[in-house]
Amino acid sequence: MDLPHTDPRWSDVDDYIVAHLIGEDPVLEACLAANAAAGLPPIDVSATQGRMLELLARAIQAKNILEIGTLGGYSTICLARSLSDEGRLVTLELEPDFAAVARENIERAGQGRRVEILVGEAIQSLTDIRKSDATPFDFVFIDADKQNYATYLDHAVQLARPGAMLIFDNVVREGGIVDPQSDDPKVPGTRELYQALVNHPKVDATAVQTVGSKKWDGFLLAIVR
Ligand code: SAH
Ligand code: DHB
Ligand code: MG
Repeated sequence: MDLPHTDPRWSDVDDYIVAHLIGEDPVLEACLAANAAAGLPPIDVSATQGRMLELLARAIQAKNILEIGTLGGYSTICLARSLSDEGRLVTLELEPDFAAVARENIERAGQGRRVEILVGEAIQSLTDIRKSDATPFDFVFIDADKQNYATYLDHAVQLARPGAMLIFDNVVREGGIVDPQSDDPKVPGTRELYQALVNHPKVDATAVQTVGSKKWDGFLLAIVR
């Protein structure tokens, strides 16, 4: 399977959507500029995806949000914007240097008070959170190493309240999930996530394919019963 997995119109349409529905966002633009200056990989969610995360979290009136995979905090800022004054967001990041960039971006966005970054292996941080008496999460965004997606699902289900929303990023990978020849090292972990969700006793899920400035990929949306 050797398709041209991009089309310039996908980005043009994203620009059109941003121009009409989102507008200029100097705070998020400064975040992307700081990330680039620090040499972070440009793998943040897009502006349209970030706004979708914000609106989904707002729709369920999430008060406690968990994010796995902070990078420079672009999606963190989007999600934090959905929160009311009492809302809290915990985000997990392996790389201390990325977390430092994220911390500055989040402060500049005026979201510093309600965001906590836990630095280290996400599985360790999740284990620690489970041992604490933290309030269950209403919304979980999973966007770290795809190899551990099925493990993150298990933790998210344990840490979330009934009715909580879980969103996984990058679940289509330019069609790699259905390509037996795929050599994308992130595909097997993504398939394990789908496999774990077959007749899952506690989770209802769907996934929607997307194209745009982030190429052909998709979000998986799940609700904990
Ligand atoms: N959510 C971000 C993008 C995250 S990119 C945004 O949209 O703005 C994925 C991030 O997961 C990277 O910063 C990477 O360092 C982090 N990561 C990878 N493996 C991890 C692990 N085992 N534990 C915690 N974070 C991890
Ligand atoms: C990669 C990771 C992401 O979370 C993403 O949205 C795009 C790409 C990556 O590791 O290649
Ligand atoms: Mg992603």
